[in-house]
Amino acid sequence: MRSARGFLLSAGVAMMLAGTSHVHAGGTVEVLHWWTSGGEARAVGELKQSFEDQGGTWIDSPIAGGGGDAAMTALRARVVAGNPPTAVQLKGPGIQEWAVEGAVADVEDVAAAEGWDDVLPPALAEIMKFDGKYVAAPVNIHRVDWIWANPELLAQVDADVPTSWDEFNTTAEKLMEAGITPLAHGGQPWQDATVFEVVALGLGGADFFRAALVELDMDALNSDTMIQVFDQMRKMRSYVDPGFSGRDWNLATSMVMNGEAAFQIMGDWAKGEFLAGGKVPGEDFLCAPAPGNAFILNSDSFVMFNVRGDDRIEGQQVLASLIMSPEFQETFNLAKGSIPARVDVSLDAFDICAQRSHDDLTAAIAADTLVPSMAHEMAVSRSVRGEFLDVVTEHFNSDMSSQEAVDRLVAAIQRAM
Ligand code: GAL
Repeated sequence: MRSARGFLLSAGVAMMLAGTSHVHAGGTVEVLHWWTSGGEARAVGELKQSFEDQGGTWIDSPIAGGGGDAAMTALRARVVAGNPPTAVQLKGPGIQEWAVEGAVADVEDVAAAEGWDDVLPPALAEIMKFDGKYVAAPVNIHRVDWIWANPELLAQVDADVPTSWDEFNTTAEKLMEAGITPLAHGGQPWQDATVFEVVALGLGGADFFRAALVELDMDALNSDTMIQVFDQMRKMRSYVDPGFSGRDWNLATSMVMNGEAAFQIMGDWAKGEFLAGGKVPGEDFLCAPAPGNAFILNSDSFVMFNVRGDDRIEGQQVLASLIMSPEFQETFNLAKGSIPARVDVSLDAFDICAQRSHDDLTAAIAADTLVPSMAHEMAVSRSVRGEFLDVVTEHFNSDMSSQEAVDRLVAAIQRAM
């Protein structure tokens, strides 16, 4: 099998022989993704630019909607219509679900030639493979359990970033007394679920998180701890401003940036937003791990779909190779807010939040407190995740008691399993 470079060379030769500019050295890719916010667009722009610099043709298929739910619906329609995109931003168990349907193509030759196994954390490498072959290339490691804060607003009430949920509640009360909105939030199911899983980690720890949100253990789902999680969610509801419903996550980030709210609970794609806004971590905004002493993992990857035509297949090979190159992993992640998926890329160029993420990731692996994100499709099937989102969102937007929320959750998960 030829390496990506082999493809480039042979396509270059073909171009010279044909005497035409229609043959592209890097092939063609149509890429379906949901990276449309300021920080996200900057990051995916890096990928497009690098691919085009190699002579490839990039057809952009963005489907707006944070968290990717709209993109996943669009993907389903495309595959059903027999017209899949060349590469798709897709992750976690979703990769396996599509692979089982026979919809994905492997890039094992590129992966083997470039030794991907040697440079990826084993747990991540496993997620990228189906039947022992790489069908996806990971671009990053995002952390979900972050608190983003506006330092000026905290100074007004003489508070630091909270390190427990009790402290969070005390500070939130103080902020409200001072007329400041404690929590910038966008009322969309995936954002509600993001806050929910971060609260679950903080109140229950990594073992509880894993039992309840990954292994779907009925005792954990039906526990006093889960009641406390919903109690805290009820408090969180009282900390948001009246305009929260339906708000996009990046607009919530802007609220923290502009001094309209003190905190946002969101993964570090929020940092991409702060950076795109010209803000400096540690000065204009603060990043701090949410309570829990663990690490909720969310890794983005591009999955290759089964497409016809040499030009597209070549495009997949070149894209896969490009995504995994150390240079790209650095440039992309500097814009995205995440850290490289490759373990051998230096973090010297990265900021304090990224350094913290890396240190905490290493510690979490050692302490076995690394957990996959439920809200961001790293932990359970789409249908099970959907059940979590429904209950969490319904509870958040009503006066449902914590006990009723737990009862509903247990019943819904039992049905979905
Ligand atoms: C996540 C994704 C991130 C970011 C976020 C908001 O699921 O992994 O890369 O894009 O959604 O759109």
